[in-house]
Amino acid sequence: MRPFIAAANWKMNKTPQEAESFLREFLQLLKPAVHQIVIIFPPALACETVSRLLKATPVQWGGQNCHFETKGAFTGENSPQTLKAMGAASALVGHSERRTLFAESDQLLAKKLKALQDLDLTPMLCIGETLSEREAGHTFRVLEEQLNSDLSAVNWQKPLHIAYEPVWAIGTGKVAMPEQVVEAHAFIRSHLGRLCGRTAEMIPILYGGSVKTDNASELARLENVDGFLVGGASLEAKSFAPIAASRI
Ligand code: PGA
Repeated sequence: MRPFIAAANWKMNKTPQEAESFLREFLQLLKPAVHQIVIIFPPALACETVSRLLKATPVQWGGQNCHFETKGAFTGENSPQTLKAMGAASALVGHSERRTLFAESDQLLAKKLKALQDLDLTPMLCIGETLSEREAGHTFRVLEEQLNSDLSAVNWQKPLHIAYEPVWAIGTGKVAMPEQVVEAHAFIRSHLGRLCGRTAEMIPILYGGSVKTDNASELARLENVDGFLVGGASLEAKSFAPIAASRI
């Protein structure tokens, strides 16, 4: 059985103090459940605070980004080895903001994914089509190309999470229709099957893009939806806690 994963992508929001007050409130509100994983992706400067507060709790945390090398002359970058040493469980790879605003290529993402798995950190690979790609009828082709390239060096024996995030639904308030989510997740599951056989059944596929308290329960019941990657609605404990509990 695949776990249900609720992941909070805080992006470039929250000081360490704000992260602390969020977590104090969130840990009170969270209803722990079996087969449920909650992951916080704080900005790098709040990772130390988050790591300290989440010690001895069931909540995990991860990096929003990292370099593919463990150390070296890479001014401004964060090492996956340091994330690991600080207690991270995972890291996001290929969020659409990294792909578009920071020009991250599929080739680079494949290296990051390998670096994380080599350190036993779970990569959460984000994939998704833009509005123009969807309107041109290229959604599946885009998903297939991203999966093929980004997972070209993956170790299928190690944990991997996939987040389907249609770019047009991120931060826009335009959530994908249930049929669109079901269709995309089914496509991703079957393409993973072509890449790794039966292991595909074990890989959680999360949906991301304007998930809110009031649409989470409906989305959580859709076939092949194994959790959410949440941006805006993860910034308040009061809105993220019910999303985390939407499958209970
Ligand atoms: P959103 O962001 O929930 O604010 O749409 C999701 C994401 O970017 O991961």
